[in-house]
Amino acid sequence: MVSKLLSLTSLLFYILFHASFILLAPNSTFGFTNETDKQALLAIKDQIVEDPFQVFSSWNDSIHFCKWKGVTCGLQHQRVTILNLSSLKLVGSLSSHIGNLSFLRRISLENNYFHGTIPQEIGRLFRLQHLSLWSNSFQGEFPTNLTDCLDIRVVNISSNNLAGRIPIELGSFTNLLQLDLSRNHFTGNIPPSLGNLSSLGVLILHNNNLNGSIPFELGKLSNLKYFLLSSNNLSGMIPTPLYNISSIHIFALAANQLSGTLPQELGLTLPKLISFLLGGNQFYGPIPPSLSNASALVELDIAINFFSGSVPMNLGNLRDLEWLNINFNRLGTKKANDLSFLDSLTNCTNLGLLSLGWNYFGGLLPNSIANLSINLNSLGINQNYLSGIIPQGIENLINLKVLALHENMLTGSIPESIGKNSKLEELYIFANNISGKIPSSIGNMSRLSILSLGPNMLGGSIPVALGN
Ligand SMILES: *[C@@H]1O[C@H](CO)[C@@H](O)[C@H](O)[C@H]1NC(C)=O
Ligand SMILES: *[C@@H]1O[C@H](CO)[C@@H](O)[C@H](O)[C@H]1NC(C)=O
Ligand SMILES: *[C@@H]1O[C@H](CO)[C@@H](O)[C@H](O)[C@H]1NC(C)=O
Ligand SMILES: *[C@@H]1O[C@H](CO)[C@@H](O)[C@H](O)[C@H]1NC(C)=O
Ligand SMILES: *[C@@H]1O[C@H](CO)[C@@H](O)[C@H](O)[C@H]1NC(C)=O
Ligand SMILES: *[C@@H]1O[C@H](CO)[C@@H](O)[C@H](O)[C@H]1NC(C)=O
Ligand SMILES: *[C@@H]1O[C@H](CO)[C@@H](O)[C@H](O)[C@H]1NC(C)=O
Ligand SMILES: *[C@@H]1O[C@H](CO)[C@@H](O)[C@H](O)[C@H]1NC(C)=O
Ligand SMILES: *[C@@H]1O[C@H](CO)[C@@H](O)[C@H](O)[C@H]1NC(C)=O
Ligand SMILES: *[C@@H]1O[C@H](CO)[C@@H](O)[C@H](O)[C@H]1NC(C)=O
Ligand SMILES: *[C@@H]1O[C@H](CO)[C@@H](O)[C@H](O)[C@H]1NC(C)=O
Repeated sequence: MVSKLLSLTSLLFYILFHASFILLAPNSTFGFTNETDKQALLAIKDQIVEDPFQVFSSWNDSIHFCKWKGVTCGLQHQRVTILNLSSLKLVGSLSSHIGNLSFLRRISLENNYFHGTIPQEIGRLFRLQHLSLWSNSFQGEFPTNLTDCLDIRVVNISSNNLAGRIPIELGSFTNLLQLDLSRNHFTGNIPPSLGNLSSLGVLILHNNNLNGSIPFELGKLSNLKYFLLSSNNLSGMIPTPLYNISSIHIFALAANQLSGTLPQELGLTLPKLISFLLGGNQFYGPIPPSLSNASALVELDIAINFFSGSVPMNLGNLRDLEWLNINFNRLGTKKANDLSFLDSLTNCTNLGLLSLGWNYFGGLLPNSIANLSINLNSLGINQNYLSGIIPQGIENLINLKVLALHENMLTGSIPESIGKNSKLEELYIFANNISGKIPSSIGNMSRLSILSLGPNMLGGSIPVALGN
């Protein structure tokens, strides 16, 4: 009986205490008030050493801090919810007092010259959802305490000087939608715990010094759209479950040390691909013909690898293709018809770049190159085993800026019609068996800055029109 009475009393006390707390301090969290917010903002101002647009001159007592430039408050509590000082050429460090702005949901300090570390106190901002610090000079390590901000959705710390490892604790950001740590100096492995970020749609880690293999666990990221790990030092094979994340739009792993073959069904398991970028690795084996089923593909770049075999004949199904770079591989047989796949590419009316150089393509240079997209800017078929002549129809490619046909076995003469490619800036034909005269129409290419013709078997004199 007594104990029951006691517990009732304490319950009553508990209710009263909390009710009064709620009544007395409607706008505070753990004793922080609007006054703490003001002090924190002034402390932040205090550490800015250059403010060329004089943003902080408005941060004075003549107006309420909720009206200071870059500050947004919640209507109800008059507490700071957004701090937005983006692109103001501010120089300085970030005060640890920022951790006292306990109602803060969004921090946007991107595109300034902040230096020093990102204060660990940020971890106290349990309402924080959006942290945008890209393009500054923050240094030190990733603020591990940020993982205490359980509601965080977007973290963009791209383009800073952060170093050290990516903390394992990042895997506990259960609501994280976008993580961009690109263009820093992060080292070590990608933590397998990132595979726990089940809502993650954007994972951008390119241009760091990450090494080791890509964790198998990342294959669990079933909502991933952007997967960008290019320009690191990652090695090993791409874990096969990653090829099963059907939501992926951008798959960019260029400039690493990755190897292995591509799965045959790639274009079927990644049907939404827009960019597939694997250049500068050690992949080998065939290019899967199923890529032509990824009908939204715009960029396909697998240059500088060891791919071999023939190029699929149906890439022309990719009507949105703008960029096809397969330079520096072992594609082709050095024999006839290696370039017959070009016929189908004439369906790609937005094609702007076609780079087939440094491969084993043999046979004739097909006339169909004359029917490629008129939007083509760059055509490279150099350093292969091609014979035949330069088709007269090349004049159709009126937007061509770079034409590289050098180091093949082409014969015949340079067509007079080439002068119609009036936007040409670079023309490489050297090291073929081309004969005849240099056409005077070359003088019509007023933007030409590189003309490389020899060695060939060209005769006659250098046309006067070249002076143009
Ligand atoms: C802070 O809040 C208190 C109580 O709500 C109010 O009296 C005071 O004017 C506020 N101060 C500022 C600077 O907003
Ligand atoms: C204080 O801020 C107001 C509003 O921006 C500005 O007009 C005023 O010049 C500022 N006062 C000082 C002393 O900088
Ligand atoms: C931050 O402010 C800039 C300019 O004042 C504005 O363009 C930008 O949209 C703002 N960002 C956010 C997240 O409110
Ligand atoms: C706010 O933050 C600073 C530094 O992190 C701390 O020294 C200070 O006591 C905090 N609290 C208040 C109420 O300003
Ligand atoms: C960082 O988090 C740890 C562990 O939660 C805590 O002990 C420490 O006080 C936090 N640091 C700051 C500056 O808030
Ligand atoms: C992060 O900022 C960079 C600009 O530096 C931008 O290109 C990138 O798209 C942003 N990342 C996300 C996830 O929004
Ligand atoms: C997160 O991932 C790691 C490694 O994959 C695993 O060991 C751990 O149990 C996971 N944690 C949670 C909370 O799911
Ligand atoms: C990764 O780099 C670190 C140094 O940053 C090195 O100690 C480690 O051996 C490397 N690991 C692999 C797998 O290359
Ligand atoms: C990349 O890793 C390899 C070993 O896997 C190492 O030899 C090389 O130095 C590393 N490169 C960079 C730029 O760290
Ligand atoms: C990919 O998904 C298919 C169908 O859901 C499944 O049969 C296959 O085992 C998966 N492959 C991998 C490597 O996870
Ligand atoms: C994939 O594309 C080929 C033609 O390139 C077509 O025959 C096949 O039906 C397509 N497969 C699917 C599943 O769409």
